[in-house]
Amino acid sequence: MQKIGTQSDWIARAQKVLPGGGFGNFDPGIIIRDGKGAHVWDEDGNRYIDYLIGSGPMLLGHGNEEVQEAVFQQIPKGMTFFANNAAGIELAEQIITAVPCAEQLRYVTSGGEADMYAMRLARAFTGRDKIVKFEGGYHGMSAEAQMSLAPDRQVNFPQAVPDSAGIPESVAAEMLIAPFNDFDYIRSLLAEYGDQVAGIIVEPLQRIIPPLPGFLQLLRDEADKYGIVLIFDEIVTGFRFAYGGAQELYGVTPDICTLGKIIGGGFPLAALTGRADIMAHFDKVKVGAEGFLMQLGTLSGNPVAAVAGLKTMEILRRDGQYDRLRQLGQSLMDMATDALRAAGVDHRIVGDRTLFEVVFTDRDVRDYRDVMNANAKRSADFNAVLRAEGVFKSPGKTYPCLSLNAADLDQTRAAYVKAAESLT
Ligand SMILES: Cc1ncc(COP(=O)(O)O)c(C=O)c1O
Repeated sequence: MQKIGTQSDWIARAQKVLPGGGFGNFDPGIIIRDGKGAHVWDEDGNRYIDYLIGSGPMLLGHGNEEVQEAVFQQIPKGMTFFANNAAGIELAEQIITAVPCAEQLRYVTSGGEADMYAMRLARAFTGRDKIVKFEGGYHGMSAEAQMSLAPDRQVNFPQAVPDSAGIPESVAAEMLIAPFNDFDYIRSLLAEYGDQVAGIIVEPLQRIIPPLPGFLQLLRDEADKYGIVLIFDEIVTGFRFAYGGAQELYGVTPDICTLGKIIGGGFPLAALTGRADIMAHFDKVKVGAEGFLMQLGTLSGNPVAAVAGLKTMEILRRDGQYDRLRQLGQSLMDMATDALRAAGVDHRIVGDRTLFEVVFTDRDVRDYRDVMNANAKRSADFNAVLRAEGVFKSPGKTYPCLSLNAADLDQTRAAYVKAAESLT
């Protein structure tokens, strides 16, 4: 790779070769050079405290030495095989031990793929076509997942609005969109369509919005009532909210769940896992040609990703890791609250201690429309000051990681104070 120096050089080069000047994920105005622990550096050498952490996978922080060592051991032995390998089998065993719904597992490469197959699997299992999805729920980039992901038009439920060009209208016709946390709506939707619905796909904590007490249990009960497959998208929450994910934390077990991010230790790996009778549809011998769901992928069960995931999970099993993560998250939430209260700025801290965001509103946040109706300009201004003060985060989420130290928290507190004061 030819290096020509400053960040602005790289931004200019990216503008030429990448649509929109970027990978499509994130602000193309910053180019990350290095990451170590809880910090990243840009190509100009500016250091930031990293609350993006690769959009979730780097829960331990960047460059964890034990994970690196596991990867270094694997690389000379082979980087990908396509065929079964021991690391991938062991990782599947560990995930199945950890996650309540998991009896069998299938690997894919990205979270979005896992969600796409989860919905297809629900259809294969039930022989029905319709999928219930919640407005604002994020499940990757498949045609189904692009329905009412971030609509700027507020249409009547359960009509689906595509968020992407290039999707046939027939896909929208099979999707039923519901408001998150609305108990009555789900009951009435399923009273009408329940026997046509294959699956309900839900982020147990939707983006940053926690489920109201009883909401996930309602989904469980209604899914049972109508013979629907309940899918938890645990790409973000898996191994973050607790070692067994959101299903452990909230005490509700889905039929299948999707996992990604942390289980690959920073490498491309994701999975879907769940009840063996449902997962059987990946096995032609068990279900026959009619019920068989064809699925394969070049990098599935990649051994480098698997050893990174195994080591990450081993570290997460050590005493006190989740307590520490929650304490760090609680400290950050308290700091943001203190700074914004002192500045007299209306806000809500929304989420879980392991993943949250400040929302500029004077109302409680229960669904996508509550977030949409909050003050987006305030969020953008707040985040801009945080960035200038060396806090790197996504526009909509704050992810604490286990490498944060007291100095990082002090710097973040000062950044919150400055950002809060800038809004008055
Ligand atoms: C809840 C959720 N599901 C699915 C995905 C898609 O995962 P990937 O980006 O690995 O395709 C994401 C990505 O952030 C996610 O947050």
